[in-house]
Amino acid sequence: MMTLALVLLLTCFTCSSALHTSRAASKKLKYLLEPPVFAEVVGRRGDNVTLPCILRTRPSHYKVKWTKLEPEALGPENIIMMSNAHAFKPYGPLGPRASLRRAHTMDASLQLSRVQLEDDGVYRCELVNGIEDESVTITLRIEGVVFPYQSKDGRYKLSFLEARAVCAEQDAALATFNQLYQAWTEGLDWCNAGWLRDGTVHYPIIHPRPVCGGELRPGIRSYGAKDKERDRFDAFCFTSQTPGSVFYVSGSFSIEQAERACERHGADLALVGHLYAAWRFQSFDQCDGGWLKDGSVRYPIRNPRRRCGGVSEPGVRSVGFPDGSAHLYGAYCYR
Ligand SMILES: *[C@@H]1O[C@H](CO)[C@@H](O)[C@H](O)[C@H]1NC(C)=O
Repeated sequence: MMTLALVLLLTCFTCSSALHTSRAASKKLKYLLEPPVFAEVVGRRGDNVTLPCILRTRPSHYKVKWTKLEPEALGPENIIMMSNAHAFKPYGPLGPRASLRRAHTMDASLQLSRVQLEDDGVYRCELVNGIEDESVTITLRIEGVVFPYQSKDGRYKLSFLEARAVCAEQDAALATFNQLYQAWTEGLDWCNAGWLRDGTVHYPIIHPRPVCGGELRPGIRSYGAKDKERDRFDAFCFTSQTPGSVFYVSGSFSIEQAERACERHGADLALVGHLYAAWRFQSFDQCDGGWLKDGSVRYPIRNPRRRCGGVSEPGVRSVGFPDGSAHLYGAYCYR
């Protein structure tokens, strides 16, 4: 009975890891533990994470090579580090934050410190011994929140590069398809198409309606890859936890007064990404519109109630970009 259960379990692991690695799964590995300890490691921005890679047998001479495979290839091969018994050599933008755990002699696990939004993706641990190189892959998923971003000038004004820039300005990065997909499973329904990190354009629909792609089933609607210079859409940004926190200062401020109100508290007006991160990770709930640094007015709702926007789902509500001289709103500050 025990044996049967184990066999079923292993079979199932093999099929799920086949999604990640077709080459490695097709032959039995001699040196590396496959599937790896976890198929996916989850961390938030700023965390230190360990991507497991364990040897079952040790060849007499070998090197360990870690590479990032997805989402974007920064070159022909995005090497993070190479290591043998005597030396460790870091490469590329991830190198300075990488180390090998070496908890024991069979441990080739990669440690990545102070994880960033762009670290999300698929990694490969490779054992190189010149004859039978072997590898396993493992996914690092950054836990975070996806938010749509629209230009001050209105709907569908952003080229791909502008979309990437507005996300960065809001302490975020363009979301990947997987991040948008997960956000959809968590309730994101948005009827405006936005750029993703790979240059494709999508939008997530939970409640199908004629004006949002017709009466298809709920899901992610796709426009496919669009012209990065000519075509204009909104952006889907992704952010994760922040080192600082967001607080509300009540008042009837113009945007300049709001800025000064934050300064008096030793803070700055919050970015849109800060407010979403506080909503997501600190359950920030405040039923008052407040200025943000980009000139928009928003408020975060965890516990939906009728007098706070009247929408039944939790979310960060937007009042848009009101006239900056309107003395109507409080301030969301970040410190
Ligand atoms: C993460 O790693 C860095 C550098 O290795 C270290 O300075 C820091 O204390 C670690 N942070 C945590 C939370 O373990």
